[in-house]
Amino acid sequence: MLPLFEHWPALESGLPILNLATLPTPIAPMTELGADLDVEGLYIKRDDFTGEAYGGNKVRKLDFLLGKAKAEGIKTVLTFGAAGSNHALATAIYTQAHDLHCISILVPQHNAHSVRRNLLRGHVAGAELHHCVSKGKATLCTANAFRREFMKQGCFPMVIPPGGSAPLGVVGYVNAALELKAQVEAGEMPEPDVVYVASGTMGTCIGLLLGFALAGMKTRVVGVAVTTAPYTEMKKGHKLYQQCLDLMRVCDPTIPDIPFPQDRFSLPYDFLGEDYALYTEAGCAAVKAIKEKEGVPLEGTYTGKALSGLLAHAQSGALAGQQVLFWDTYNSKDVSPEIEGIDYHDLPRGFHQYFEEEVQELDRQ
Ligand SMILES: Cc1ncc(COP(=O)(O)O)c(C=O)c1O
Repeated sequence: MLPLFEHWPALESGLPILNLATLPTPIAPMTELGADLDVEGLYIKRDDFTGEAYGGNKVRKLDFLLGKAKAEGIKTVLTFGAAGSNHALATAIYTQAHDLHCISILVPQHNAHSVRRNLLRGHVAGAELHHCVSKGKATLCTANAFRREFMKQGCFPMVIPPGGSAPLGVVGYVNAALELKAQVEAGEMPEPDVVYVASGTMGTCIGLLLGFALAGMKTRVVGVAVTTAPYTEMKKGHKLYQQCLDLMRVCDPTIPDIPFPQDRFSLPYDFLGEDYALYTEAGCAAVKAIKEKEGVPLEGTYTGKALSGLLAHAQSGALAGQQVLFWDTYNSKDVSPEIEGIDYHDLPRGFHQYFEEEVQELDRQ
């Protein structure tokens, strides 16, 4: 049973899940990297292992979001992201597994090998992929999809916002914080002073912050920004925190209404670089370092940038004597067997550019 439901059994009937995630995810010490940085207590939470079909941070959110869709008899979900969105891919894979249709409205992004892989894998999963080059086109495409689905199914699709960061999706990371607490109590690591995690649409970092507050933990959260406003900004973090807490309190009013713990939360933008999904030298160096020292695969859009924040803070001496946890949010399940032999020409025309144009410079091997 999820630690969330052990703490507050009333949530179990109010918030149905599909048990998509393989939990708890492991915690491991990063001894070599820690020694290099002079951080004695450096650990990693392996959320790359959240799912057999596909891992990463989206699985915990989709457990609740798709749980609601199935409980309400929804037939189609509609979601949004950048062309290579891990969230759109995870949604495609898990909707297919649960007999739901998935429509993804995708917008342009800097090219990378992962964009190609994700597009092909999403296509194999049967998702309806739309490439929309402007906000106006995305709005029109969404309206058309609503109309089509209503004509076909007699009901509208369920909308999942970018990154799955609806208040209901965020509950998945409240549970993750309680899971960590149980692992701390079982002696897997000391209570962390600080957690470093990428902030894209904020669902992950805010869920953890709320979960730690509810669990009575002192752990601070550093949400290393990999996007800018309106996706990552303090104001949005406050709103999402309260909306998620309110949602839980509707199901169980005994859950305390704890105010946003501002002193335990920060959102550094220093590691984002020039743009979302444009790799940085520091991010790539971080990806290389953790691969060489600990054998952990990360990537340049989210986790490499988040780790580069942790490394910079450690190098400045700010983490001396602290217990530090890096929360790995990237999928590490290899999707190449599923996409072998798939021709990108089978994708809608707008996506062909990602296969015909060069990937960004820092992603060329
Ligand atoms: C690998 C990875 N890490 C981190 C994030 C950011 O998580 P969130 O959108 O919950 O802030 C995302 C999603 O956008 C992601 O795909």
